[in-house]
Amino acid sequence: MAVTLKRDGDFAVLTLDRPEALNALSFAIIGQIGEALDAVAEDRTARALLITGAGDKAFCAGADIKELRSRSLVDQKRGAELGQRVFAKLDDLPIASVALVNGYAFGGGMELALACTFRLASANAKFGLPEVKLGLIPGYGGTQRLPRLVGEGRALEMILSGRTVDAGEAERMNLVNKLIEDDLLEAGKAFASTFTRYSLPVLNFARRAVQRAHDLPLHEGLRVEAELSTLAYRTADAEEGMEAFEQKRKPEFRDA
Ligand code: CAA
Repeated sequence: MAVTLKRDGDFAVLTLDRPEALNALSFAIIGQIGEALDAVAEDRTARALLITGAGDKAFCAGADIKELRSRSLVDQKRGAELGQRVFAKLDDLPIASVALVNGYAFGGGMELALACTFRLASANAKFGLPEVKLGLIPGYGGTQRLPRLVGEGRALEMILSGRTVDAGEAERMNLVNKLIEDDLLEAGKAFASTFTRYSLPVLNFARRAVQRAHDLPLHEGLRVEAELSTLAYRTADAEEGMEAFEQKRKPEFRDA
């Protein structure tokens, strides 16, 4: 298996494990990521998903270029659709995901990080969409997710130049949430712990509302927010949270 899925306390940890090819995404690996994400979706006990790459050099160096060369045009389209479909599963997971970028995040690797809810980067992280250098353009969501995150100008600059962005610049341009000097996995768990103690269904309503902000005009987005905030209001956890406030005690959420 080039993808491993393990439990670490409250967290599911998915590791791309093909360090000899800098964790490059073959068709087979993308399929395995899809299976792992399905398993995470079914496991109702993990409270956040952490995604990282094996070895100390790369999170993921992108689509497997050797395999790309041998694909027909039809295979290429199916490949892009498969990658997009698998990465989109991260949006639909019942828990938030955190990319722990521990080295190169190039091409499809950066697109995987972009599809996660959050991104943390170690000091040696390097981000890039170098597809133009191969005569290609990003195919696993980069042209759509990057401008939503950093704005059109910065996204176009990265996509048209194929320029590599180091960890510091990535943080300054909002590509990553946080730069990590110490152990990345421990930092990822600490980061996720800032929200995993809250009610999972309520966190999901908040994620869904923010996801829709990209697709909808403001007045429709506000309508979605009103609906989702009403659903949150109706949960037992909302009753518990507000009662605990009045009683000046810590709430005990039950994900209900
Ligand atoms: N696909 C297949 N193999 C890859 C790979 C990739 N994307 N990236 C690295 N490798 C392999 C190398 O071929 C090499 O294998 P061999 O030892 O068998 O030759 C091994 O990993 C180590 O790589 P390097 O020797 O190149 O390591 P380096 O430290 O000198 O350079 C790097 C690191 C700058 C990341 C360089 O490997 C590189 O530029 N890789 C390609 C990055 C890239 O272009 N990614 C985009 C792919 S296209 C895409 O992703 C399309 C999309 O949108 C889905």
